[in-house]
Amino acid sequence: MAIRNIREIGEEVLTKKCKTVTEMTPRVRELIGDMLDTMYEANGVGLAAPQVGVLKRIVVIDTTGEDPHILINPRILESSGEQVGQEGCLSVPGKSGQVTRPNYVKVAALDLNMNEFELEGTELLARAICHELDHLDGHLYVEKVEGPLQDVTNIEEDDEE
Ligand code: NI
Repeated sequence: MAIRNIREIGEEVLTKKCKTVTEMTPRVRELIGDMLDTMYEANGVGLAAPQVGVLKRIVVIDTTGEDPHILINPRILESSGEQVGQEGCLSVPGKSGQVTRPNYVKVAALDLNMNEFELEGTELLARAICHELDHLDGHLYVEKVEGPLQDVTNIEEDDEE
């Protein structure tokens, strides 16, 4: 496994719609392992494949540091409620901004064996799921930010996704 280069805002790969994963291959497994390594190394709570330059519908999320979720071809089944909070992104270094997200989401996705499962999340996990899924359709949180983007001088683990 290896640390991959994180792409930053302004790079075209972050604006593209990602492709559905149709089969698990050694290459896809390696990508997912590298995404986890890259996320942890950057102290992020989530990472989407386009952030390492790969246009596949894969995200990894870990909001606690010990509970990684791997979501392949994820899709939101349900969402409800609302939360307003600060959000950041490893592809927009040194910045954060206020974004409103659902407070609860339920997603369906495929696991490493290409078996479907469901994941429910509230609060930070719900926010991370929404943020990462947006990446798969070429969207960054800065498009949704309310008010100005702020400079983050003291980067906290929890607000980098
Ligand atoms: Ni992001």
